[in-house]
Amino acid sequence: MVAVVFCIRVAKQPPLLPVRGIVLMPKALAVLAARLSMADIRRFVLILAHMVRTIRWENDELILLDQTQLPVEVVEEKQESIKQVWHSINTLKVRGAPAIGIAAAYGLLLGVRDKLELPCRDFLAEIDRQAAYLSTSRPTAVNLSWALKRMTSSAGGLDTKDTRQIYNCLVAEAVRIHEEDRRLCRSIGEHGAVLIKKGMGVLTHCNAGSLATSELGTATAPMYLAHDEQGIEFRVYVDETRPLLQGARLTSWELQRAGIDVTLITDNMAAYVMSKGLVDLVIVGADRVAANGDVANKIGTMGVAILAKHFKIPFYVASPSSTVDLATKKGEDIEIEERGDEEVTHFGLRRTGPEGIKVHNPAFDVTPHELVTGILTEIGIIYPTYKKTLKVFK
Ligand code: MRU
Repeated sequence: MVAVVFCIRVAKQPPLLPVRGIVLMPKALAVLAARLSMADIRRFVLILAHMVRTIRWENDELILLDQTQLPVEVVEEKQESIKQVWHSINTLKVRGAPAIGIAAAYGLLLGVRDKLELPCRDFLAEIDRQAAYLSTSRPTAVNLSWALKRMTSSAGGLDTKDTRQIYNCLVAEAVRIHEEDRRLCRSIGEHGAVLIKKGMGVLTHCNAGSLATSELGTATAPMYLAHDEQGIEFRVYVDETRPLLQGARLTSWELQRAGIDVTLITDNMAAYVMSKGLVDLVIVGADRVAANGDVANKIGTMGVAILAKHFKIPFYVASPSSTVDLATKKGEDIEIEERGDEEVTHFGLRRTGPEGIKVHNPAFDVTPHELVTGILTEIGIIYPTYKKTLKVFK
Protein backbone atom coordinates (compact mmCIF):
# COMPACT_ATOMS: atom_id res chain seq x y z
CA MET A 1 0.00 0.00 0.00
CA VAL A 2 1.31 3.44 -0.87
CA ALA A 3 1.90 5.55 2.21
CA VAL A 4 1.42 8.86 0.44
CA VAL A 5 -1.59 11.04 0.63
CA PHE A 6 -2.06 14.38 -1.02
CA CYS A 7 -3.89 17.61 -0.92
CA ILE A 8 -6.27 19.60 -3.07
CA ARG A 9 -6.96 23.28 -3.49
CA VAL A 10 -10.43 24.19 -2.41
CA ALA A 11 -12.25 27.06 -4.09
CA LYS A 12 -11.59 30.48 -2.51
CA GLN A 13 -9.08 29.19 0.02
CA PRO A 14 -5.34 29.47 -0.21
CA PRO A 15 -4.25 26.67 2.14
CA LEU A 16 -3.72 23.22 0.75
CA LEU A 17 -5.97 20.58 2.16
CA PRO A 18 -4.07 17.77 3.78
CA VAL A 19 -5.38 14.26 3.89
CA ARG A 20 -4.20 12.07 6.75
CA GLY A 21 -1.30 14.23 7.70
CA ILE A 22 1.01 14.48 4.73
CA VAL A 23 0.89 17.61 2.65
CA LEU A 24 2.45 17.72 -0.79
CA MET A 25 2.73 20.73 -3.05
CA PRO A 26 1.09 20.61 -6.50
CA LYS A 27 4.40 20.15 -8.35
CA ALA A 28 5.34 17.23 -6.17
CA LEU A 29 1.87 15.92 -6.80
CA ALA A 30 2.49 15.79 -10.56
CA VAL A 31 5.74 13.86 -10.02
CA LEU A 32 3.97 11.55 -7.65
CA ALA A 33 1.04 10.95 -9.98
CA ALA A 34 3.38 9.64 -12.66
CA ARG A 35 4.56 6.93 -10.27
CA LEU A 36 1.15 5.82 -9.06
CA SER A 37 -0.76 2.79 -10.20
CA MET A 38 -4.40 3.12 -11.20
CA ALA A 39 -5.36 1.37 -7.97
CA ASP A 40 -3.48 3.98 -5.93
CA ILE A 41 -5.08 6.82 -7.86
CA ARG A 42 -8.50 5.27 -7.36
CA ARG A 43 -7.82 4.99 -3.64
CA PHE A 44 -6.74 8.65 -3.45
CA VAL A 45 -9.81 9.80 -5.32
CA LEU A 46 -11.91 7.82 -2.87
CA ILE A 47 -10.19 9.45 0.09
CA LEU A 48 -10.68 12.91 -1.42
CA ALA A 49 -14.31 12.24 -2.22
CA HIS A 50 -14.94 11.22 1.36
CA MET A 51 -12.85 13.82 3.05
CA VAL A 52 -14.39 16.30 5.45
CA ARG A 53 -12.83 18.76 7.84
CA THR A 54 -14.19 19.40 11.30
CA ILE A 55 -12.93 22.97 11.65
CA ARG A 56 -11.76 25.47 9.03
CA TRP A 57 -10.35 28.95 9.59
CA GLU A 58 -10.17 30.67 6.24
CA ASN A 59 -10.02 34.33 5.31
CA ASP A 60 -10.83 35.26 8.90
CA GLU A 61 -13.91 33.05 8.87
CA LEU A 62 -14.63 30.11 11.14
CA ILE A 63 -16.47 27.22 9.54
CA LEU A 64 -17.54 24.21 11.56
CA LEU A 65 -18.85 20.91 10.35
CA ASP A 66 -22.22 20.45 12.05
CA GLN A 67 -21.69 17.00 13.55
CA THR A 68 -25.29 16.77 14.76
CA GLN A 69 -26.33 16.28 11.13
CA LEU A 70 -24.09 13.27 10.54
CA PRO A 71 -24.28 10.66 9.16
CA VAL A 72 -27.29 11.75 7.13
CA GLU A 73 -25.94 15.05 5.87
CA VAL A 74 -22.55 16.74 5.63
CA VAL A 75 -23.34 20.34 6.51
CA GLU A 76 -20.89 23.12 7.32
CA GLU A 77 -21.92 26.18 9.27
CA LYS A 78 -20.17 29.53 9.23
CA GLN A 79 -19.83 30.94 12.75
CA GLU A 80 -20.80 34.60 12.90
CA SER A 81 -20.19 35.34 16.58
CA ILE A 82 -18.62 34.05 19.77
CA LYS A 83 -22.16 33.39 21.05
CA GLN A 84 -22.77 31.09 18.12
CA VAL A 85 -19.51 29.24 18.81
CA TRP A 86 -20.53 28.85 22.49
CA HIS A 87 -23.80 27.36 21.29
CA SER A 88 -22.07 25.08 18.74
CA ILE A 89 -19.84 23.66 21.48
CA ASN A 90 -22.68 23.35 23.98
CA THR A 91 -24.99 21.55 21.54
CA LEU A 92 -22.19 19.30 20.22
CA LYS A 93 -22.17 20.65 16.69
CA VAL A 94 -18.46 20.62 17.34
CA ARG A 95 -17.43 18.07 19.95
CA GLY A 96 -14.56 15.88 21.09
CA ALA A 97 -11.96 17.31 23.46
CA PRO A 98 -9.31 18.56 20.99
CA ALA A 99 -11.88 19.93 18.53
CA ILE A 100 -13.63 21.83 21.32
CA GLY A 101 -10.31 23.47 22.25
CA ILE A 102 -9.50 24.41 18.67
CA ALA A 103 -13.01 25.77 18.01
CA ALA A 104 -12.84 27.83 21.21
CA ALA A 105 -9.47 29.33 20.23
CA TYR A 106 -10.91 30.51 16.90
CA GLY A 107 -14.20 31.45 18.60
CA LEU A 108 -12.35 33.87 20.85
CA LEU A 109 -11.15 35.70 17.75
CA LEU A 110 -14.77 36.29 16.72
CA GLY A 111 -15.44 37.73 20.18
CA VAL A 112 -12.70 40.35 20.10
CA ARG A 113 -12.06 41.26 16.50
CA ASP A 114 -14.49 44.19 16.47
CA LYS A 115 -13.02 45.61 19.68
CA LEU A 116 -9.69 46.76 18.24
CA GLU A 117 -10.60 50.41 18.91
CA LEU A 118 -10.46 49.84 22.66
CA PRO A 119 -7.43 51.06 24.61
CA CYS A 120 -4.93 48.23 24.97
CA ARG A 121 -5.68 47.54 28.65
CA ASP A 122 -9.41 47.31 27.99
CA PHE A 123 -8.80 45.16 24.93
CA LEU A 124 -6.78 42.66 27.01
CA ALA A 125 -9.50 42.66 29.68
CA GLU A 126 -12.05 41.99 26.96
CA ILE A 127 -10.01 39.00 25.72
CA ASP A 128 -10.03 37.56 29.26
CA ARG A 129 -13.76 38.22 29.63
CA GLN A 130 -14.68 36.55 26.34
CA ALA A 131 -12.39 33.58 27.09
CA ALA A 132 -14.07 33.13 30.48
CA TYR A 133 -17.45 33.18 28.75
CA LEU A 134 -16.44 30.53 26.18
CA SER A 135 -14.98 28.29 28.87
CA THR A 136 -18.50 27.85 30.30
CA SER A 137 -19.75 26.13 27.15
CA ARG A 138 -18.87 22.63 28.44
CA PRO A 139 -17.15 21.61 31.68
CA THR A 140 -15.41 18.23 31.31
CA ALA A 141 -12.92 18.35 28.43
CA VAL A 142 -9.83 20.15 29.72
CA ASN A 143 -8.79 21.09 26.17
CA LEU A 144 -11.32 23.93 26.30
CA SER A 145 -9.69 25.79 29.20
CA TRP A 146 -6.24 24.65 28.06
CA ALA A 147 -6.66 26.28 24.63
CA LEU A 148 -8.25 29.44 26.04
CA LYS A 149 -5.48 29.78 28.61
CA ARG A 150 -2.94 29.56 25.80
CA MET A 151 -4.78 32.29 23.93
CA THR A 152 -5.05 34.70 26.86
CA SER A 153 -1.43 34.11 27.92
CA SER A 154 -0.15 34.72 24.41
CA ALA A 155 -2.01 38.05 24.28
CA GLY A 156 -1.01 39.07 27.80
CA GLY A 157 2.65 38.26 27.25
CA LEU A 158 3.14 40.72 24.39
CA ASP A 159 5.23 43.84 24.70
CA THR A 160 2.99 46.11 22.66
CA LYS A 161 0.03 48.45 23.04
CA ASP A 162 -1.10 47.93 19.48
CA THR A 163 -4.41 46.05 19.62
CA ARG A 164 -4.17 45.02 15.96
CA GLN A 165 -0.82 43.42 16.68
CA ILE A 166 -2.29 41.62 19.70
CA TYR A 167 -5.17 40.38 17.58
CA ASN A 168 -2.78 39.11 14.90
CA CYS A 169 -0.84 37.29 17.58
CA LEU A 170 -4.07 35.67 18.78
CA VAL A 171 -4.84 34.49 15.25
CA ALA A 172 -1.37 32.97 14.99
CA GLU A 173 -1.81 31.20 18.34
CA ALA A 174 -5.17 29.71 17.31
CA VAL A 175 -3.70 28.44 14.05
CA ARG A 176 -0.75 27.02 16.02
CA ILE A 177 -3.09 25.14 18.37
CA HIS A 178 -4.88 23.72 15.35
CA GLU A 179 -1.67 22.72 13.54
CA GLU A 180 -0.14 21.24 16.66
CA ASP A 181 -3.15 19.01 17.15
CA ARG A 182 -2.52 17.51 13.70
CA ARG A 183 1.01 16.62 14.72
CA LEU A 184 0.04 15.32 18.17
CA CYS A 185 -2.57 12.99 16.71
CA ARG A 186 -0.16 11.72 14.08
CA SER A 187 2.47 10.96 16.75
CA ILE A 188 -0.14 9.18 18.87
CA GLY A 189 -0.92 7.12 15.79
CA GLU A 190 2.71 6.27 15.18
CA HIS A 191 3.25 5.13 18.77
CA GLY A 192 -0.07 3.30 18.95
CA ALA A 193 -0.05 1.52 15.59
CA VAL A 194 2.39 -1.09 16.94
CA LEU A 195 -0.43 -2.40 19.13
CA ILE A 196 -2.53 -3.36 16.11
CA LYS A 197 -1.63 -6.71 14.58
CA LYS A 198 -3.03 -8.57 11.60
CA GLY A 199 -6.43 -10.16 12.25
CA MET A 200 -7.06 -8.35 15.54
CA GLY A 201 -10.41 -7.05 16.73
CA VAL A 202 -10.21 -3.53 18.18
CA LEU A 203 -13.08 -2.02 20.13
CA THR A 204 -13.66 1.68 20.62
CA HIS A 205 -16.30 3.78 22.35
CA CYS A 206 -17.72 7.19 21.41
CA ASN A 207 -15.82 9.18 18.78
CA ALA A 208 -12.19 10.01 19.36
CA GLY A 209 -11.72 10.17 15.64
CA SER A 210 -10.84 12.67 12.99
CA LEU A 211 -14.18 14.39 13.64
CA ALA A 212 -13.12 15.05 17.24
CA THR A 213 -9.76 16.53 16.27
CA SER A 214 -8.04 18.23 13.39
CA GLU A 215 -7.24 15.16 11.34
CA LEU A 216 -6.38 11.58 12.37
CA GLY A 217 -8.15 11.52 15.71
CA THR A 218 -6.60 10.14 18.88
CA ALA A 219 -8.03 6.65 19.44
CA THR A 220 -8.44 6.24 15.69
CA ALA A 221 -4.97 7.49 14.74
CA PRO A 222 -3.31 4.08 15.32
CA MET A 223 -6.13 2.50 13.30
CA TYR A 224 -5.72 4.89 10.36
CA LEU A 225 -1.96 4.48 10.27
CA ALA A 226 -2.08 0.68 10.68
CA HIS A 227 -4.62 0.50 7.87
CA ASP A 228 -3.49 3.22 5.46
CA GLU A 229 0.25 3.13 5.84
CA GLN A 230 1.04 -0.36 7.05
CA GLY A 231 -1.63 -2.29 5.16
CA ILE A 232 -2.58 -4.27 8.27
CA GLU A 233 -5.96 -5.97 8.13
CA PHE A 234 -7.95 -5.80 11.34
CA ARG A 235 -11.54 -5.32 12.46
CA VAL A 236 -12.99 -2.51 14.54
CA TYR A 237 -16.06 -2.82 16.76
CA VAL A 238 -17.72 0.48 17.54
CA ASP A 239 -20.07 0.90 20.50
CA GLU A 240 -23.01 3.03 19.38
CA THR A 241 -22.58 5.17 22.53
CA ARG A 242 -25.99 6.05 23.95
CA PRO A 243 -27.47 8.60 24.37
CA LEU A 244 -26.10 10.77 21.56
CA LEU A 245 -24.72 7.93 19.43
CA GLN A 246 -21.29 9.37 18.66
CA GLY A 247 -20.10 5.82 17.96
CA ALA A 248 -22.91 5.02 15.54
CA ARG A 249 -23.25 8.42 13.88
CA LEU A 250 -19.62 9.47 13.79
CA THR A 251 -17.00 6.75 14.39
CA SER A 252 -18.57 4.02 12.31
CA TRP A 253 -19.21 6.63 9.60
CA GLU A 254 -15.65 7.92 9.41
CA LEU A 255 -14.01 4.48 9.66
CA GLN A 256 -16.29 3.07 7.00
CA ARG A 257 -15.44 5.93 4.65
CA ALA A 258 -11.77 5.22 5.24
CA GLY A 259 -12.25 1.63 4.10
CA ILE A 260 -11.62 0.09 7.53
CA ASP A 261 -13.49 -3.12 8.40
CA VAL A 262 -15.91 -1.70 10.96
CA THR A 263 -18.84 -3.30 12.77
CA LEU A 264 -21.35 -1.27 14.75
CA ILE A 265 -22.71 -2.78 17.97
CA THR A 266 -24.99 -1.40 20.66
CA ASP A 267 -23.31 -0.62 23.97
CA ASN A 268 -24.82 -3.63 25.72
CA MET A 269 -23.34 -6.02 23.14
CA ALA A 270 -19.73 -5.31 24.07
CA ALA A 271 -19.62 -8.02 26.78
CA TYR A 272 -21.00 -10.63 24.40
CA VAL A 273 -18.62 -9.66 21.60
CA MET A 274 -15.69 -9.83 24.01
CA SER A 275 -16.84 -13.17 25.42
CA LYS A 276 -16.73 -14.58 21.90
CA GLY A 277 -13.06 -13.67 21.61
CA LEU A 278 -13.70 -11.06 18.93
CA VAL A 279 -11.88 -8.22 20.71
CA ASP A 280 -8.12 -8.24 21.32
CA LEU A 281 -7.59 -4.57 22.10
CA VAL A 282 -9.61 -1.58 23.31
CA ILE A 283 -8.62 1.99 22.45
CA VAL A 284 -10.70 4.93 23.61
CA GLY A 285 -10.15 8.68 23.83
CA ALA A 286 -10.16 11.00 26.83
CA ASP A 287 -11.66 14.31 27.86
CA ARG A 288 -9.36 14.74 30.82
CA VAL A 289 -6.61 12.62 32.32
CA ALA A 290 -5.99 13.40 35.99
CA ALA A 291 -2.51 13.38 37.51
CA ASN A 292 -3.03 9.88 38.91
CA GLY A 293 -4.10 8.46 35.52
CA ASP A 294 -7.87 8.42 36.13
CA VAL A 295 -9.57 9.11 32.81
CA ALA A 296 -12.77 11.03 32.15
CA ASN A 297 -14.29 9.99 28.84
CA LYS A 298 -17.72 9.49 27.31
CA ILE A 299 -20.26 7.80 29.56
CA GLY A 300 -19.92 4.04 29.20
CA THR A 301 -16.13 4.03 28.94
CA MET A 302 -15.70 2.79 32.51
CA GLY A 303 -18.02 -0.15 31.77
CA VAL A 304 -15.90 -1.08 28.76
CA ALA A 305 -12.76 -0.91 30.91
CA ILE A 306 -14.30 -3.21 33.53
CA LEU A 307 -15.30 -5.67 30.80
CA ALA A 308 -11.83 -5.52 29.28
CA LYS A 309 -10.29 -6.38 32.64
CA HIS A 310 -12.69 -9.32 33.06
CA PHE A 311 -11.83 -10.68 29.61
CA LYS A 312 -8.10 -9.87 29.98
CA ILE A 313 -8.12 -7.49 27.04
CA PRO A 314 -5.64 -4.58 27.08
CA PHE A 315 -7.39 -1.25 27.56
CA TYR A 316 -5.58 1.80 26.16
CA VAL A 317 -6.53 5.46 26.37
CA ALA A 318 -5.34 7.78 23.59
CA SER A 319 -4.67 11.24 24.93
CA PRO A 320 -2.55 14.11 23.65
CA SER A 321 -0.74 16.15 26.33
CA SER A 322 -3.42 18.84 25.82
CA THR A 323 -5.87 16.47 27.53
CA VAL A 324 -3.61 15.68 30.50
CA ASP A 325 -4.51 17.84 33.48
CA LEU A 326 -1.86 17.57 36.18
CA ALA A 327 -3.62 20.26 38.18
CA THR A 328 -6.45 17.80 38.79
CA LYS A 329 -5.13 15.20 41.19
CA LYS A 330 -7.70 12.45 40.73
CA GLY A 331 -10.78 11.55 38.73
CA GLU A 332 -13.19 12.43 41.52
CA ASP A 333 -12.16 16.07 41.14
CA ILE A 334 -13.25 16.22 37.49
CA GLU A 335 -16.53 17.99 36.86
CA ILE A 336 -18.88 15.69 34.99
CA GLU A 337 -21.29 17.40 32.62
CA GLU A 338 -24.95 16.63 33.26
CA ARG A 339 -27.05 17.02 30.13
CA GLY A 340 -30.75 17.41 29.38
CA ASP A 341 -33.40 14.79 30.14
CA GLU A 342 -34.63 14.55 26.57
CA GLU A 343 -31.37 12.87 25.47
CA VAL A 344 -32.46 9.92 27.62
CA THR A 345 -36.25 10.08 27.35
CA HIS A 346 -36.11 10.25 23.56
CA PHE A 347 -34.44 8.22 20.86
CA GLY A 348 -33.91 10.81 18.17
CA LEU A 349 -37.20 12.67 18.00
CA ARG A 350 -39.26 9.79 19.35
CA ARG A 351 -40.15 9.62 23.03
CA THR A 352 -39.05 6.32 24.56
CA GLY A 353 -39.46 7.14 28.26
CA PRO A 354 -42.70 8.09 30.02
CA GLU A 355 -43.63 11.75 30.52
CA GLY A 356 -42.44 13.07 33.87
CA ILE A 357 -39.92 10.26 34.50
CA LYS A 358 -36.89 11.14 36.63
CA VAL A 359 -33.69 11.13 34.55
CA HIS A 360 -29.97 11.09 35.30
CA ASN A 361 -27.82 11.96 32.28
CA PRO A 362 -24.10 12.27 33.05
CA ALA A 363 -22.23 12.77 29.77
CA PHE A 364 -18.96 11.26 31.02
CA ASP A 365 -17.62 8.77 33.53
CA VAL A 366 -14.23 8.31 35.10
CA THR A 367 -12.28 5.13 34.48
CA PRO A 368 -10.03 4.40 37.46
CA HIS A 369 -6.36 4.33 36.55
CA GLU A 370 -6.03 0.70 37.70
CA LEU A 371 -8.05 -0.35 34.66
CA VAL A 372 -5.89 1.53 32.15
CA THR A 373 -3.18 -0.61 30.54
CA GLY A 374 -1.42 2.37 28.97
CA ILE A 375 -1.95 5.94 27.78
CA LEU A 376 -1.07 6.63 24.14
CA THR A 377 0.45 10.07 23.90
CA GLU A 378 2.45 11.99 21.35
CA ILE A 379 5.70 11.13 23.14
CA GLY A 380 4.98 7.41 23.40
CA ILE A 381 2.96 4.99 25.48
CA ILE A 382 2.87 5.93 29.16
CA TYR A 383 2.52 3.04 31.60
CA PRO A 384 1.73 2.94 35.35
CA THR A 385 2.45 4.14 37.89
CA TYR A 386 0.78 7.15 36.28
CA LYS A 387 1.28 9.45 39.26
CA LYS A 388 4.98 9.22 38.46
CA THR A 389 5.04 8.63 34.71
CA LEU A 390 2.58 11.40 33.77
CA LYS A 391 4.91 13.93 35.42
CA VAL A 392 6.73 13.97 32.10
CA PHE A 393 4.06 16.49 31.01
CA LYS A 394 4.88 18.96 33.79
O1 MRU B 1 -19.60 14.54 24.29
P1 MRU B 1 -18.48 14.41 23.29
O2 MRU B 1 -18.94 13.85 21.98
O3 MRU B 1 -17.72 15.69 23.15
O4 MRU B 1 -17.51 13.34 23.95
C1 MRU B 1 -16.34 13.00 23.26
C2 MRU B 1 -15.52 11.99 23.94
O5 MRU B 1 -15.82 11.51 25.01
C3 MRU B 1 -14.21 11.64 23.26
O6 MRU B 1 -13.89 10.31 23.49
C4 MRU B 1 -13.09 12.54 23.81
O7 MRU B 1 -13.47 13.87 23.79
C5 MRU B 1 -11.83 12.36 23.07
S1 MRU B 1 -11.87 13.06 21.44
C6 MRU B 1 -10.34 12.81 20.76
